[in-house]
Amino acid sequence: MPSSQNLPPLHFVLIGHVDHGKSSLIGRLLHDADALPHGKKDAMEEMCKRRGVTFQWAFLMDALQAERDQGVTIDSAWIRFNSHGREYILIDAPGHERFVRNMITGAERADAALLVIDAQEGLQEQSFRHGFLLHLMGVRQLGVVINKMDLVGYDAARFNALEKEIREYFERLDIDPVAIIPVSAVEGDNIVRHSANMPWYKGASVLEALQNFQARGESVDLPLRFPVQDVYRNDTQRILVGRIESGQMQVGEELLFSPSNQTATLASIENHPGENPAQAQAGRCVGITLKEKIFIERGELVSHSKNPPVESDVFRARIFWLAQTPLRTGDVCELRLANTRIPADIENIEWVVDPASLQRNQADNIQANEIGEIIIRARTILAFDPFDENTNTGRFILARDKQIQGGGTISMQGYTDRRLTRRATNITRVPHHVTIDERARRIGHKNGVLWFTGLSGAGKSTLALTLERRLYEQGFQVFVLDGDNLRYGLNADLGFSPEDRAENIRRAFEVAGLFSRAGMLVITAFISPYASDRTRAREVIGDSFREIHIHADIEVCKERDPKGLYEKARSGEIREFTGISAPYETPKNPDLTIDTAANNIEECVEKLLAYIEAEFRL
Ligand code: ADX
Repeated sequence: MPSSQNLPPLHFVLIGHVDHGKSSLIGRLLHDADALPHGKKDAMEEMCKRRGVTFQWAFLMDALQAERDQGVTIDSAWIRFNSHGREYILIDAPGHERFVRNMITGAERADAALLVIDAQEGLQEQSFRHGFLLHLMGVRQLGVVINKMDLVGYDAARFNALEKEIREYFERLDIDPVAIIPVSAVEGDNIVRHSANMPWYKGASVLEALQNFQARGESVDLPLRFPVQDVYRNDTQRILVGRIESGQMQVGEELLFSPSNQTATLASIENHPGENPAQAQAGRCVGITLKEKIFIERGELVSHSKNPPVESDVFRARIFWLAQTPLRTGDVCELRLANTRIPADIENIEWVVDPASLQRNQADNIQANEIGEIIIRARTILAFDPFDENTNTGRFILARDKQIQGGGTISMQGYTDRRLTRRATNITRVPHHVTIDERARRIGHKNGVLWFTGLSGAGKSTLALTLERRLYEQGFQVFVLDGDNLRYGLNADLGFSPEDRAENIRRAFEVAGLFSRAGMLVITAFISPYASDRTRAREVIGDSFREIHIHADIEVCKERDPKGLYEKARSGEIREFTGISAPYETPKNPDLTIDTAANNIEECVEKLLAYIEAEFRL
């Protein structure tokens, strides 16, 4: 048995189908582990005898629930007990819905789980869902208790069959149960003592399995994450309060605030009045003050500059859906992430999983109690972490009408961090002495950026270059920035990963912005598959930016395949090819759409010319 002194308390969750004997198991476990107040069980048995009812272990739980001063503390869902010098916090799952809600909101941070299964009934629909939920929420330590072995005559064959089924299922979820234990809670077999009724079983008892679980404790060794929950102002100070979710902070250190990207020095940590520690770590609720005066609001995420959180308005998520109204592509939900609440669009439902077969199916909605993978796009840039890097800041909730409807975990697979770390310091903007209006009057048209976006083969370059010629002939100062061309020079160091594409587009819109501010009309031809990049281009360039969707269906583009790239992508020769193995996010509200399948080149050019005459000619 491992030394139990000074171990952090173990939080474990007890899950299982309602009738599979959870209460009896708890009663028996507390009794056999010597965690019950002295004489409690005898008194209970005595009382049952007087009333002429058969004693049941589950009664003990009810009795304990009624009295709270017994050394075993039970509040609504927690049972706290000691055994062999270690403290255990048992999170009883009070009904399916509440359990799921608690798990996905992070209200319960379980280190481990015990899954109770009835030996007669075996794995049920709900066992699968709960198992999958454990997987989703990152609980990897699991013990499985096969209860009611007495009712199957302590049959080794029955147990072996169940054990095999359970192992096969959890293997696919990347969970390796530490023990699968045949027990009878009623008879006390293998709860604490090894059972004489099942000499064929050589593994751990339930208590031994618990003793072997590791408590995660607080995430002190991870990078600092302190979501600002509130800002209190008094005459002299602003105090930012919240819970340190991970890492630690030290007075005098520089702190980074995301997504506002401001920095400030930590001046003091305010614990209780008069108590100002120099350092504070994960798990503590603290107030902090800053040396510099910067404007910080609820929802900002504090870190150190050397390991900041991700910044993005879009991410991939695995979610558990609770509400009776299904979640559909295009729905708008309130996204709650740490202390931020922001409207978010459900951009796509990638797949829905069948918890029993673990089969991923295509669907356009997720029903109550289903698990799926979706793409979420928030209305602003947020700061967070992928769940596998930080479970505290990598989970979120979806709400509608102020009700929690689902929740899940974040992955950045296929998406990229939008944080731009400005390395230059001590820089000041200088104003030009020639205004943009003066330039426009001399040139005869307004400046601007016509941002062509679309699939490879949709016709962006063809149209851009034809248009450039025609506009030039009509006296426009016009220049085309083409994706392939820039990739020969300025962007030669970039490939086609999400990160590289984001950087490709950032450089492209910065250059387009410069040309445009010099008075020119710029036409760009980049696939620019990510909506976030195009939004950022619009933000940086401003009013003179026009998003123009050069549209042709993927089937049409494949058919045209002017550079033979679709064929190469199909054969696997090119990876991450847009539309085949990398995403293209269709513009939602482009300024203009040009359909190159329905119109020939001349018709498309005429449409563009008319638009430009109206919008840019003085
Ligand atoms: S973007 O996605 O970063 O906007 P960009 O427009 O610069 O792409 O470059 C796209 C061009 O690169 C395509 O027209 C095609 O000729 C070429 N290319 C090579 N590999 C890929 C790929 N994996 N995905 C898309 N285009 C590719």
